[in-house]
Amino acid sequence: MTTSTPAVAPRVLSGIQPTADSYHLGNYLGALKQWIELQENYDAFYFIPDMHAITVEQNPQELHDRTISGCAQLLAAGIDPEKSTLFIQSHVPAHAELSWVLTCLTGFGEASRMTQFKDKSSRQGAEHTGAGLFAYPMLMAADILLYHPQFVPVGEDQRQHLELTRTLAERFNNRYGETFVVPEGFIPKGAAKIYDLQNPTAKMSKSGDNPRGLINLLDPPKVSAKRIRAAVTDTDTVIAFDRENKPGVSNLLVIQSELTGIAIEDLVASYEGKGYGHLKVDTAEALEAFTTPLRAKYEEYMADRGQLEAILQRGAERANEIAAATVHEVYEKIGFVVPSTMR
Ligand code: TRP
Repeated sequence: MTTSTPAVAPRVLSGIQPTADSYHLGNYLGALKQWIELQENYDAFYFIPDMHAITVEQNPQELHDRTISGCAQLLAAGIDPEKSTLFIQSHVPAHAELSWVLTCLTGFGEASRMTQFKDKSSRQGAEHTGAGLFAYPMLMAADILLYHPQFVPVGEDQRQHLELTRTLAERFNNRYGETFVVPEGFIPKGAAKIYDLQNPTAKMSKSGDNPRGLINLLDPPKVSAKRIRAAVTDTDTVIAFDRENKPGVSNLLVIQSELTGIAIEDLVASYEGKGYGHLKVDTAEALEAFTTPLRAKYEEYMADRGQLEAILQRGAERANEIAAATVHEVYEKIGFVVPSTMR
């Protein structure tokens, strides 16, 4: 109902990679929670970019399982397939098709300037860097431009890719006529930045140095409680919100506040005269109250593969309808002979 007719609600689109067994709390509080809110007022498209995942080497079984599990986690967290279009990138061939056209429209130097490519390739060394990593931003541009979204919620680390997407949309429009919406990136209001428990000035990330710095949504509450108890704080004893001087304590306050909805200043006031132990116990409890129902829903989705596949098939069909039409238009505009089966 939302896709084949022109959308009345503005459209948003975003993706999250399937590169860990569990999404972590930073993924949830920094992105997924906003995705879930956005689906109420936007025509939302969310997908798992498995094609992006293979830009670095993947174990096939692991990639397969993480893609399915990732979908189940998004649903368990609150992505509603009646409100959002949820799909797996490789189910929609148009992503690869448009990506090639956009790659041919991108300058070699332009792509070489992408900082994520430069970082990853310098870390891996040229011999271990696939050309897919170089093409990654153009695939991402295709992901976006296929669906004509007005807004693309992404983290700071994806800004430059979004800028390239806008550049490519404008370039295509100038060269071949108005085709693409030039999308806005935005960091949604209320997106919380969550830091590593062991290194509270670094963003919580699956690629952090110490697994104990992570809170995984699917971990048993006991494991997470232990990590929270072991979280780095400081030698002071006062519970206060001060990112600069008390990054560890501030991080725990933000986590607890985000999970409970209690304002940080109210939390701080309630801890007057109390020590870090209290803060950690309460934060672990708030986390448990949040992850217990999430894990139960996750298990339900994982136990009913038929239902999960039906949701993903419906999502792919809706996505495909729009994406194939965009590719068709693009192919005609650039001078490809469009076969009668595509018309
Ligand atoms: N590159 C994004 C990331 O790693 C994931 C992604 C792929 C994406 N395609 C996208 C995000 C399109 C937004 C829109 O976070």
